[in-house]
Amino acid sequence: MNELTRRDFTRGLGVATALSYSRILGANDRLRLGYIGLGNRGDQVHDAFLEHPDAQTVAVCDLRDDYMDLAIKKSRGTPKKYKEYKKLLEDKDVDAAVICTPDHWHALMFIEACNAGKDVYVEKPLSLTVMEGRKMVETAQRTKRVTQVGIHRRSAKFCQEAAEIVRSGAIGQVTVAKGFHVQNEWPKGIGNPPDEKPPNEWEWEHWLGPAPKKPYNRNRTYYNFRWFHDYSGGQLTNFGVHYMDMLRWCLGQDAPKAVVAMGGKYAVQDNREIPDTMEVLWEFDGPTLVIFTQYNASAAPPNLNDAEMELRGTKGTMYLFGNRWEVVPEKNAEKLFGYRTPLDRGIEKSYGPSRKQAMEPKSGKGSANTAFHARNFLDGVKSRGKCNCDILTGHLSTSATILGNIALKTRSFLEWDTKNEKFTNNAAANKYLSYQYRAPYKLP
Ligand SMILES: NC(=O)c1ccc[n+]([C@@H]2O[C@H](COP(=O)([O-])OP(=O)(O)OC[C@H]3O[C@@H](n4cnc5c(N)ncnc54)[C@H](O)[C@@H]3O)[C@@H](O)[C@H]2O)c1
Repeated sequence: MNELTRRDFTRGLGVATALSYSRILGANDRLRLGYIGLGNRGDQVHDAFLEHPDAQTVAVCDLRDDYMDLAIKKSRGTPKKYKEYKKLLEDKDVDAAVICTPDHWHALMFIEACNAGKDVYVEKPLSLTVMEGRKMVETAQRTKRVTQVGIHRRSAKFCQEAAEIVRSGAIGQVTVAKGFHVQNEWPKGIGNPPDEKPPNEWEWEHWLGPAPKKPYNRNRTYYNFRWFHDYSGGQLTNFGVHYMDMLRWCLGQDAPKAVVAMGGKYAVQDNREIPDTMEVLWEFDGPTLVIFTQYNASAAPPNLNDAEMELRGTKGTMYLFGNRWEVVPEKNAEKLFGYRTPLDRGIEKSYGPSRKQAMEPKSGKGSANTAFHARNFLDGVKSRGKCNCDILTGHLSTSATILGNIALKTRSFLEWDTKNEKFTNNAAANKYLSYQYRAPYKLP
């Protein structure tokens, strides 16, 4: 079917009007991509798309010419170069936008991309606030865009296997699930450079965007923005969102019922704002206690197995690593606990060990290469189907982590109403669900 006939065909079926202003692609067509943000992650995501011959780089946008030039060099063809993302979004040759800018830019760029009729791949964490995430979901749904959030484990086969095993009940009821980010950054962390005059006023202004105006400090910009609250939720949303997403997926749960957190900047001597030490606890239906452990000022490893995540069920534990999973059966399963007389001990001895292994050990391995996630987005755009980590999935995982930061900020135990996305027991905490953009920026 050629492009015109395909469009008429789709219109005839009454498919959303938003589709009528974007190209309808067939399985063999190339998707024309425009990249916004080509730093550390943007470069990796660009490489991941370039692994697929049906992904064509037609436009690039960054504040830095050198990053754009590198991306152009890697591309097949000669992409257009934009310093203003709005111009890239106006470009009718761009079918889909790939957004890899710092977190505080995601919402604006994503919403504008959807409104311009582009499908969108956007990096994690989805947003800086819960309100931004909610508006991103609403916009994507209203404009009927195909979306993929960069929580790339969702497209990794070994993660899909692990999630299925846990959801099948093989390790029993999961009562505790944990994610660990342990990296000792003591004593100097990211250093302590002084505030100074921005080397380039235009670049600093466009870096800040909707964030509050602050004196320029080199740590607030490239890569290190993660350690500052104006641009990021810190390691809880940076690493934590990958873990929260995987754990939610395994548990089959949307959102927590309650959250509490403790921590602070205990030992690292740099100009970071985020904690170097923190524990966040969420209670999910299940019931399951979910825990995020961030130790950036103490010795590794995080746990005996050195896993990134663990799910402890009544019958066994699922350990998740960067490229494998392992199920270790519980030796104590079905043993009776409680009061023992000396006579009981004698009986146990004569009958042998009462410990019974509930299941066989199991393991699997694979790769969480971002190219799988990119492939899934390309296929989603062509089929107009749902991607593995669509906007709602990304929003639920991101907002659960944001709640942890609000609990830490307010030093409180917070109860969460998932449907209305509000805390029910603390009005002050609800104020942190959004923030005032710096003029002239406005969240639509
Ligand atoms: N999925 C993953 O595993 C993963 C890994 C690393 C980073 N990330 C995410 O990717 C995002 C970017 O992180 P990074 O490490 O690449 O940071 P970075 O600082 O290396 O890159 C950000 C880029 O965005 C550009 N930029 C900033 N404002 C812009 C604007 N207004 N218009 C155009 N370009 C602009 C900067 O010039 C820079 O090149 C973050 O949200 C981060 O959480 C995801």
